[in-house]
Parts: sequence; structure tokens; C-alpha cells
Amino acid sequence: MIRVAIDGPAGVGKSSTSKALARHFGFAYLDTGAMYRACAWWCLHQGIDLDGDQVDEQQITEAVAEFFTGDHFDIGVDPDHPSITADGEDISEAIRSSEVSSHVSKVSNVIPVRHVLIAAQRAYIARESAADSFSLGRGIVAEGRDITTVVAPDAEVRVLLTAREEVRQARRTGQAVAGAGVGGEDVAARDRADSKVTSFLTAADGVTTVDNSDMDFQQTMDVLITLVADAV
Ligand code: C5P
Repeated sequence: MIRVAIDGPAGVGKSSTSKALARHFGFAYLDTGAMYRACAWWCLHQGIDLDGDQVDEQQITEAVAEFFTGDHFDIGVDPDHPSITADGEDISEAIRSSEVSSHVSKVSNVIPVRHVLIAAQRAYIARESAADSFSLGRGIVAEGRDITTVVAPDAEVRVLLTAREEVRQARRTGQAVAGAGVGGEDVAARDRADSKVTSFLTAADGVTTVDNSDMDFQQTMDVLITLVADAV
């Protein structure tokens, strides 16, 4: 069983590389950002106000607890068909909307919400390591902001995937040179909001930093594949 933990800021290409890495090794794939996005989507869907500086943390916590314990939420960990559902409805695309992106930090910064999600994420990771349960392979790639430090600090492979801010902004907006927020979201603003509760801008002890500012997708993959292959 190999657990691969990948953290990093917005726009660095974590999801596409983590998914491809899981596919390469036949591992399961856990997108923890999608879980936080699903919670934000659920709160918005419930009519909870996420605008303004002060949100109702108790209301958010109760809604997220119901989302999980009431069995409304489900996630698929097959990297070929990653899915997120709410009451059976596929919300994989809805959680990528700019409305969710701009509100997700309000939900992920609520500490009791993090406790619910961290416990669920640890359970998914443990499930993939149980020999007698559903498993796509001998391991899992889990990506997010606090996987290397909080969710799975004992993972066999721990990587901080990062890139210079202007490169990440350009990737997000799809432009060669982009000003913050032009034609897309302001990744720096979301990183600032997220940094209040998670530490993903510098690598923790024992975590390998991979700066892919000057790498293309395949070069990034080659580095990650080598790191995992060395641990297998
Ligand atoms: O990775 P992605 O950009 O989809 O993450 C969406 C949001 O989920 C982040 O901006 C952050 O607020 C939250 N998140 C988190 N902890 C994680 C993964 C994501 O707080 N492990």
C-alpha cells in the first residue's frame, strides 16, 4: 500500500497531475478540494449566506454535518471516473463554478467543518489500504492543502507541488501573461484566504517540493512518477 499525498496552491495543476499519477500506477484518487467544494455547493444550495466577512459558522457546521452523516454526499475514487454526488445528483461540474470557487474558503475555514472532512478523508485513505475491500490498486493519491501535514502526515510519498504565482494565474486564466483576476478567478486571493487555516506555501519537514513553473505537464508527471516509483 502506497499513500501519495500532494498539497499545493490553486492553479498549480494538482488535480490533473494527481489524477494522471493515480491512473499511471493503478491507484485510487481522492480530490479533497472537491469535497470542500461540494460542502460549499451544499451550503449555497441550502440558501446559507456565504457573502460578507462574517458567516454563520454554526449554521455551516450543521449543514455540513447533515451532508455527511445524513448520507447525502458520495465520492468516487476511480481516477478514470472521479465523481461527486449530492443525493445521487452528479455535481462534479457544478462544484467548479465561479460561485463555488469564490465562496469555498468561507466554508473550508470553519474548523469543525475541517474536522468532519479530515475524518472522512482518513477513512477513505484507510479503506483503500484494507485488503478485503474495494480497491483499484495498491495505493491512493490524495491531493489538497493539508494532506502532507494533517490528513496523512505518515504517507509514503509527500509532495508540495508549487509554481510561481504569475504562472499559476496564467494557467487559470488560460492566457500567456495574465493580470490577477483577468478572465478568471484571482488565485492569490483564494490562497490568502486558505492560508489562514492550512499551510501549503512552504513544505513541511520531509515533504519534497516540486516547483513546476518551468515544466510542462509531462515533465511534472515524470518527476512525480519517479518519486512514487522510488517508494514502491
Ligand atoms: O483544490 P481545489 O482548488 O479544488 O480546492 C478548493 C478549496 O478547498 C480550496 O481553495 C480550499 O479552500 C479548500 N481545501 C482545503 N483543504 C484541502 C483541500 C481543499 O481547505 N485539503
